[in-house]
Amino acid sequence: MVRVDPLGADLPLDPGETIIEAAWRLGYYWPTTCHGQATCTVCHVEVLSGAEHLTPADDEEQEALEHRLPGARRRDLSRVGLACRARATGDVTVLKKGVRRIQTVQIPPTGLL
Ligand code: FES
Repeated sequence: MVRVDPLGADLPLDPGETIIEAAWRLGYYWPTTCHGQATCTVCHVEVLSGAEHLTPADDEEQEALEHRLPGARRRDLSRVGLACRARATGDVTVLKKGVRRIQTVQIPPTGLL
């Protein structure tokens, strides 16, 4: 389970699923501009607890964090991960502003208005 603060959403991840994939499956908007290609770093999360339950960053994720994450030199990258790459093997809490439930609107069939 991945808890996303400050929203307080609990995302149950399917086996092999990344955090952002779980969020999309469950109907959440997650900030991104590359839509899961590990190039924009907009999806990055700060790990508040349970870092030991996240999969280690692969070369692609590490490269993106080191070279494309704004302010990377001033941050503890051991506590930052890309939601489009990170998978959880246990309970994790992350901080990600901008995550929200996607709103849906029911449009009545034509002729009922
Ligand atoms: S979605 Fe762009 S780097 Fe993760």
